[in-house]
Amino acid sequence: MIGNNMIWKRWSVMMVSLGMIGGFVLIDSPSLQAEGKESKTVAARKKLMKTAVKAGMGDMKKGMKAGDSAKMLKGADMLVDAAAKIPDAFNNKDLSGKTRSMASIWDKKSEFDGIAKSLGTSAKAFAVAVKTGNKEQIGSALKAVGSNCGKCHKMFRKKKKKK
Ligand code: HEC
Repeated sequence: MIGNNMIWKRWSVMMVSLGMIGGFVLIDSPSLQAEGKESKTVAARKKLMKTAVKAGMGDMKKGMKAGDSAKMLKGADMLVDAAAKIPDAFNNKDLSGKTRSMASIWDKKSEFDGIAKSLGTSAKAFAVAVKTGNKEQIGSALKAVGSNCGKCHKMFRKKKKKK
């Protein structure tokens, strides 16, 4: 009987400890979010910017340097697709964790979405220019794309913190 009793005691001590850990996690999670753990929403929109928007633009630029139309067109395609996903990626106001998004995005969401739309339109125009083979036209079309990145970042993205 004594043996059984010991096991029971250990068991209850363990359950109490687990309960405490559980309680700690429950209490702690909201403050964790405020302190810097980013949500899935924030991670996803940053990923879209980096792996699709910037990557598409990167191929467009590299293609232009190399005189590689296929690469320019691939980049433009990627960017048209990515630009169309920007409005949804920013649907929910979420400023958790490391984010440079400004709260004003959600006060002026239609303006924000409008710039995303212009980005897509300018990427399509770039593809048209590529097909003409005219370098000057391609160059100015690329500038127009870049100005949409810059316009949105200037209005809606916080500057990088200086270290
Ligand atoms: C409609 C608005 C808008 C347009 C257009 C736009 N961006 Fe962004 N971009 C943002 C916002 C807002 C952020 C900040 C996201 C965050 O930190 O929550 C951002 C962040 C980024 C980041 C950083 C991502 C990270 O990992 O933190 C890169 C790189 C980027 N943009 C590249 C581009 C390029 C290149 C273009 C044009 C081809 C572009 N963006 C067009 C709004 C835009």
